[in-house]
Amino acid sequence: MTISFEGRVAIITGAGGGLGRAYALELARRGARVVVNDLGGSRDGTGHSDAALKVVEEIEAAGGEALSNGGSVTEYDQMVAMVEQARERWGRVDILINNAGVLRDKSFAKMTPEDFEFVVKVHLIGSANCTKAVWDTMREQNYGRILMTASSTGLYGNFGQANYGAAKLGLAGLTKTLYLEGAKHNIKVNTLAPTAGTRMTEDIFPSEAFKAFSPETVAPAALYLVSEDAPTNAIVGAGAGVFQAAYVTLTQGVHLTGDALSPEGIAAHWAEITDRAGEIVPKSGAEQAMSIMARLQG
Ligand code: NAI
Repeated sequence: MTISFEGRVAIITGAGGGLGRAYALELARRGARVVVNDLGGSRDGTGHSDAALKVVEEIEAAGGEALSNGGSVTEYDQMVAMVEQARERWGRVDILINNAGVLRDKSFAKMTPEDFEFVVKVHLIGSANCTKAVWDTMREQNYGRILMTASSTGLYGNFGQANYGAAKLGLAGLTKTLYLEGAKHNIKVNTLAPTAGTRMTEDIFPSEAFKAFSPETVAPAALYLVSEDAPTNAIVGAGAGVFQAAYVTLTQGVHLTGDALSPEGIAAHWAEITDRAGEIVPKSGAEQAMSIMARLQG
């Protein structure tokens, strides 16, 4: 079955290059009308350029329809104006891919509070801003597909990326509540953790790997996760054509009472607490609380 985006309107932030550009081109090729947002700055978020406009020109040259938007995801008012721009032109917004991002890598010892805050602001607050800006529209339409962009750094850590990792795991957390709040309005929310050869990783990947990890090898996951029949609350890893699912799991654990309800008891039962046999994946925080109640009831 072909996955079509005919009749859909998509906003992709940070789509002036790298992964966002690949998503925009493929969505447009499959019939979506696309808002290409990008501030057009450098990798650390400084400066401006017409990167978004160039991608719009590429889409139009291929026969697609697109709008460029040079707003910054860090400015809520600009994101509200961007959604208005899409609604005025096409009457709706079906898809939001929160993809814009910057890097200010340093070991935590050397990282300034400003560099920490700026990276969290672009990734986490920026994605919340865009999502908030489209949320009422999607609720009214009874249709929405939202994709957050996390990272292996957020899920598993990486030396020198404390700011980035904190923001990226925050985005998986944002997904986990928004999928619950959006469910009755047919809004599906997912998280993608890509690995791709872009300007963000050009000094990390050897040149052969850079090619194998092209943004085009990640795009199928992004498109599936914003398609009509998308799952919701998934965390998907994608790179070089390899696709994986990540989970936040919970072990069965132990119920401690009496003298064992103590730091010493925790120490004595550590192996049991962390034993992964029979672990579960709660679908909400309430499900974790319910699993505690179930343990208490034997
Ligand atoms: P990229 O640097 O080519 O793309 C990021 C885009 O976001 C740039 O075009 C930039 O101008 C734009 N941007 C930055 N600040 C903005 C703002 N305030 N408002 C609007 N646009 C802004 O890098 P890449 O690799 O394509 O990154 C895309 C997303 O994927 C990012 O969120 C990144 O953190 C994430 N990611 C990428 C990985 C990789 O291996 N390339 C790994 C894990 C996550």
